[in-house]
Amino acid sequence: MADQLSTLQNYDRYIAELFAPEDRVLEAAREESRRKAMPEINVSASEGKLLHLLARIIDARRILEIGTLGGYSTIWLARALPPDGKLITLEIDSHHAAVARENLKRGGLLQNVEIKIGPALVELDNMHSRREPNFDLIFIDADKESYPEYLQKALPLLRERGLVVADNTLPNAVLDSRARHGAKRYNTDVSARADLTSILVPVLRSRGIDGLTISLKASNVSKPS
Ligand code: SAH
Ligand code: DHB
Ligand code: MG
Repeated sequence: MADQLSTLQNYDRYIAELFAPEDRVLEAAREESRRKAMPEINVSASEGKLLHLLARIIDARRILEIGTLGGYSTIWLARALPPDGKLITLEIDSHHAAVARENLKRGGLLQNVEIKIGPALVELDNMHSRREPNFDLIFIDADKESYPEYLQKALPLLRERGLVVADNTLPNAVLDSRARHGAKRYNTDVSARADLTSILVPVLRSRGIDGLTISLKASNVSKPS
C-alpha cells in the first residue's frame, strides 16, 4: 500500500512539475493556509490546472465555486477568466474566507472574485430569488453530504452547455461514510439525468486516488438506431 501510494505521488509530481508549476501566488496561498492552521484539503496543482483548462475550453466568463477554504482552487479558476469575468465563491467559515481574501489579494484577483460568507444552500436560494445571471461553470467542493442538494440548486443557475464539476467524488477511504454516501448519490444523480453528459475522472492526490465528476449541461447524443 505504502509503495503504491508513493508511486501515485511520483506520477502526480511528474504531471504537476511539467504542466502545473506553482508561481509565488499559489505557493504563498498554500503556505499561508498552513500557517493559519487550516486543513490541507485544497485541490492539487494538477487538479487546479485541470479546472483552469476546463474553464478556458468553454470560455467561461462567470464561475460559481461552492467551498472556498483558502482560495487555492479559486486562484486557478479565477486566472482562467477574461479581465471583466467574475467568480463568486461560497464559504461558511469566516476565518477561511478571511484567509482566502488575503491570498486572492496577493494574486491581484479581488476585482474578479466575490467571496460570500454563509451556508451555501441559503446563498444558492438567494441567487435564485434575485435572478442572478447564469454561470458558465460551477465547481462543487464544500460538505460532501450536501452534494446532491447543491446539484439540484446549482443546475438552474448554469447556462446551456455549461459545466458542473464536483471534487472528491471517487468514494474513497479519505471520506467518512456520510460524505461517501453524498458523493455516491451525486454520481448516480448526474449519471441518471438526461440533460447532463458526465464522466468521473480519477485524479491523483497526496493521500491517494480521488475523483472529479465533470458534467456538461447537454443531452447525451442519441445512439444511431
Ligand atoms: N475548494 C477549496 C477546498 C474547499 S474545502 C480548494 O480546493 O482550495 C471545503 C470548504 O467548504 C471548507 O472551507 C468549508 O468550510 C466549506 N464548507 C463546508 N460546508 C459548507 C457550507 N454548508 N456552505 C459553504 N461552505 C461550506
Ligand atoms: C478532503 C479533501 C477535499 O478535497 C475536500 O474537499 C474535503 C476533504 C480530505 O482529504 O479529507
Ligand atoms: Mg475537495
